[in-house]
Amino acid sequence: MVLLAPGSAAELAERARAGLRDTFGSEAAVVGRAPGRVNLIGEHTDYNGGLVLPVALPHATYAAAAPRSDGVVRLASAQEPDPFTGIVDHLGPGEARGWSAYAGGVLWALREAGHDLPGLDLYVDSSVPLGAGLSSSAAIECAVAMAAVGILGLDLDDPLRAGLVAACIRAETEVADAPTGGMDQTVAIHGQAGTALLIDFGVGTHEPVALALRDRTILVTDTRVKHALTDGGYGARRADCEKAAAALGVRTLRDATLEAVEALTDDVVRRRARHIVTEIARVRPAVDALGAADWPALGELFAASHASMRDDFEISTPELDLAVSTAVASGADAARMTGGGFGGSIVAVLPTAAVDDVVRAIDHAFSAAGYRSPGHLLVEPSAGASLVG
Ligand code: GLA
Repeated sequence: MVLLAPGSAAELAERARAGLRDTFGSEAAVVGRAPGRVNLIGEHTDYNGGLVLPVALPHATYAAAAPRSDGVVRLASAQEPDPFTGIVDHLGPGEARGWSAYAGGVLWALREAGHDLPGLDLYVDSSVPLGAGLSSSAAIECAVAMAAVGILGLDLDDPLRAGLVAACIRAETEVADAPTGGMDQTVAIHGQAGTALLIDFGVGTHEPVALALRDRTILVTDTRVKHALTDGGYGARRADCEKAAAALGVRTLRDATLEAVEALTDDVVRRRARHIVTEIARVRPAVDALGAADWPALGELFAASHASMRDDFEISTPELDLAVSTAVASGADAARMTGGGFGGSIVAVLPTAAVDDVVRAIDHAFSAAGYRSPGHLLVEPSAGASLVG
C-alpha cells in the first residue's frame, strides 16, 4: 500500500528554503504555498460555463523566493531537472518552457496586470503528485503568485485574490499552452479548510459548501497513468463542446437543454454535449447529498458521472474504470474518475472504517490486472494559498 502523505507545511517550506540556498546561494525572503485539488463532481464543465465542486488538498507546493535587483529571474524545482534563467522583462509566451512556463508565466501575467515585480530567484518543492490529475501545475502557479504577493508586500484581499486567479489562468493558457478552464486556480486560491468550493462559471461566483463527512473519508487513488493537459485530448474535448454550442446557437453548453442536445445530428458531438449538460445537472444534487450525509444518493451521482465520462466524453481509462468499480465493490459509498482524464486519479467517498479494505482491494485488483501499483491520498479538505511563516 502506497500512501502519499501531504508532509508538514513547516518542513516543506524549509525544504524549499534549503533548495533555494543550495541551488542559487540565496536566502528566501518569503515562501508561498498553494494546494493541489481534487474535484468531487462537475468535470469539464468549467469551460462550458457550468458548475464544479473541488476540494483543496492538504498536499501543496511551496515556492521560496528572494528578490534580485538586476532583473534576472532564476527558477528551479526539486521535482524537475531543468532550471531556467531569464530576464523579468522578457517572460512572455514562448520564453520559458516545460514546468518553468507555469512559474515564469505567472510572473509575466502579474507584471502585465500592473504589479511591479523585480527579478528573483525562486525554488519550488511539492507534495502534490505530478501528472496525477490533481492540479500540480495550478499549485505551482498559485504558490509562485503567493511568493510574489509576499515580495511585493501586498494585502491579500478579495480583489487581489481574484487578480491572482486571473494571472495564474493566463500563465497556464497563454504561456504553458494548456487550454484549461480555471477551476484549479480558483480553488487553489479560494479554497477553505473543511469545505468544498462550489464554483459557478456561468456567473463567476464561488462559495464554500459544508461537507457532512463525520465518519466518512475522501480517498484519492492515483492510477499512475500519466495525464497531461497539453497532449491534445483535453483540447479536442473542448473543441467538441464548442462545436456543440455553435450548432445549438448558445454561448456555452450551460445554456443548452438536454432535449436540444439529443437532437444534434453528429453522434460524437451529441455525446460530448450530453456529458456536459447531464454533469452540470449533477453538481447541485451532489452538494445536497454531501451536506446531508446522503451516501446512497451521492453513490448514484458519482456512478452516473463516471459512466458519462467513460461512455459519452470518452476520457476514462481501463485503470480508472477498475479503480472505481473495485472501490465501490469493496465498500466505498461513491467513486468516479476525477480531473481532466486520460489517466490520473479517481475520487471516492467511503466509511472511514473501510479505508484499509478499499485500498487493499484496489491494490490487489491492480496487481492481478498487471497494472502499476497505485498511490493513495487521504484528503482532509484544506485551505487555499497562503504565505508560510
Ligand atoms: C483540468 C483543467 C480544469 C478542468 C478539469 C476537468 O483539471 O485544468 O480546468 O477543466 O481538467 O474538469
